[in-house]
Amino acid sequence: MSARDSDATALCNACGETLAIRDGIPDFAAAVGTLSTRPNRSPSQWLMETRGFAAIYETPIWRPLLVRLGAGITMQREIDEVLAFASGRRVEAALDLGCGTGQYARAMASLLPDATIWAADLSRAMLRKGSRLAEAQRLERIRFYRGDLHALPHADASLDWINCSGTLHLLPDLAAAWREISRVLRPGGILTGMIVVMTTGPLRHLQRRANQRRHATFLDRESLRDSLEAFGLSRFESTAYGGALLFRCERAEA
Ligand SMILES: C[S@@+](CC[C@H](N)C(=O)[O-])C[C@H]1O[C@@H](n2cnc3c(N)ncnc32)[C@H](O)[C@@H]1O
Repeated sequence: MSARDSDATALCNACGETLAIRDGIPDFAAAVGTLSTRPNRSPSQWLMETRGFAAIYETPIWRPLLVRLGAGITMQREIDEVLAFASGRRVEAALDLGCGTGQYARAMASLLPDATIWAADLSRAMLRKGSRLAEAQRLERIRFYRGDLHALPHADASLDWINCSGTLHLLPDLAAAWREISRVLRPGGILTGMIVVMTTGPLRHLQRRANQRRHATFLDRESLRDSLEAFGLSRFESTAYGGALLFRCERAEA
């Protein structure tokens, strides 16, 4: 890895690609040229990539407010309940996928002081903010990187736990996500997360329209469970709070 921190490069000894490093964050998404480079990103993804949005994301006017309105619970309760799905498990390597500003990654790092914690996101703005917040809490050991969840820079069966909260329903194609998550999870490893599901209320109409435009994928609980199962992600369990489903499943043993 060359030395200048703000504008350095590193050679990935697994894939042989040269990675750009900005603000100490290696860019695996640019190296593999994945969906991150597509011109027609969704409006929500466009927003996630702005600095202003990253700045307000964890404040009381955004993510905590949305979970309060949509699920009727606090942000802390959401995180605690999702993390509880992993309690008592052997975890050496974990990934917070679509980490945003890293609120889950920080909770995972505090819970697992000896594990390697990766945190991946497409948005440079979110990652920069996340890495500053982690530093402020002396959690510099969280390894933030820019990556696309459709092409993760992890070896097959190398992770014990993947958390993906608040992100999955924003993707146009969940099958592609399940394929990649299933590849990098070890047999017996778990996927946890929060996903916004299809509601029965007045928002249903807007959710359907977002599905049709491929700006999002809102499923009901059963369709979610079945789609995970089709990629070897079984033993599904979930708790519903309004439109938010907290869930866990497990990569089937070989
Ligand atoms: C609503 S935020 C969720 C952040 C955090 N996990 C939380 O629970 O607050 C969704 C995040 O997913 C990221 N994202 C969207 N598509 C992605 C992809 N294909 N690969 C990696 N990250 C992605 C966005 O950049 C954004 O930061």
